[in-house]
Amino acid sequence: MAETRKFPHHLIREIFEQPDALRRTIAPRVSQAEGRVRLDEIHISREELRALRRINIVASGTSRHAGMTGQYMLQELAGVPVDVDYASEFEYRNPMIGRGELSIFITQSGETADTTASQREARQKGSRTIAISNVEGSTIAREADGFIYTDAGPEISIASTKAFTAQMACLFLFALYLGEIKEKVPKALAQHYIRELLALPEKTETILAASDKVEKLAELYYRVDDFMFLGRAIHYPIAMDGALKLKEVSYIHAEGYPTGEAKHGPNAMIDFRLPLVLIATCDRNNNDAGSVARYQQSVSNMEGFKKQGATLIALATEGDTIVPKIANHTIFIPAVPELLSPILEIVPLQLFAYYVAAKRGLDVDHPRNLVKAVTLE
Ligand code: AGP
Repeated sequence: MAETRKFPHHLIREIFEQPDALRRTIAPRVSQAEGRVRLDEIHISREELRALRRINIVASGTSRHAGMTGQYMLQELAGVPVDVDYASEFEYRNPMIGRGELSIFITQSGETADTTASQREARQKGSRTIAISNVEGSTIAREADGFIYTDAGPEISIASTKAFTAQMACLFLFALYLGEIKEKVPKALAQHYIRELLALPEKTETILAASDKVEKLAELYYRVDDFMFLGRAIHYPIAMDGALKLKEVSYIHAEGYPTGEAKHGPNAMIDFRLPLVLIATCDRNNNDAGSVARYQQSVSNMEGFKKQGATLIALATEGDTIVPKIANHTIFIPAVPELLSPILEIVPLQLFAYYVAAKRGLDVDHPRNLVKAVTLE
């Protein structure tokens, strides 16, 4: 898809390269017939992984948002408690980690100083480490016990897009791998998830094929100076990353918040002047009662915001007829199991940030005051 088009900026090309990046990252590592994930690059024995007591995920910025989705994936599929830290805060909290634990460091560049320093600290305390990075041979990769490569291709634009979706795919693969080792994921479930993983690139293409709708939305909103992004559970990190993308490429103030937290303060700000981007997708296909309950809570929140006069831009699942009746605008994503939904949900939010920035006439690939890899602590 990306190869046959000419793009005015690296950012939009990289957004469109996501289906291929996902294909390269996922397909070589799964066998659907066996219901198995192969992660040959992890040099930690199955016995050691089976005995893991806890996982710490440490990263910065968008990579940390991937880590936050990984927390849900790993806890659900492998049944291991997971903590997520900002790499820049890791050392300050005197992390109480050690033997019998695994620390995962996520970094597109592999050179973020806070993240590489955190890995050294974790190793010093006796924790095993796995690095997830887009750069083979990077500092993080060289110093880790195990390495999972996000085969997203070089990411040039400062805003991270295709590396982010590839990081989430790697975290899901690792969660499935660990779930199998810990005997938490039966073969039929693994086969189901592998089928869904392999379908992600095509579903991403469906979203990209409707990019003109997101561009029209950007046309309506690009002059607005404040946004709030809301999502609950595994959708919350996507609200955070949607807000971060808008901040960094458009210089627009945007907050990412858990939907249920709005009533604990931010609700005071919500009226017609503050557009809300609210994630209200739902996994009905898999009879996921938890997902349906979370969706119903989000719908009820939306009704409340609507009464306050809020302008709502919703992300919903194809076929949903309830959300479009409440929201001012609805962007649809294809149906997908909830644990994989972040990988699709972020794509329209990346497009939105890109089109808003482009319409503002900004240098979308090189936002002011930012660098691609923060190599100083
Ligand atoms: C993402 O859009 C940002 N440019 C930034 O938050 C980035 O994710 C962060 O600096 C971490 O970089 P890394 O993944 O290379 O470690």
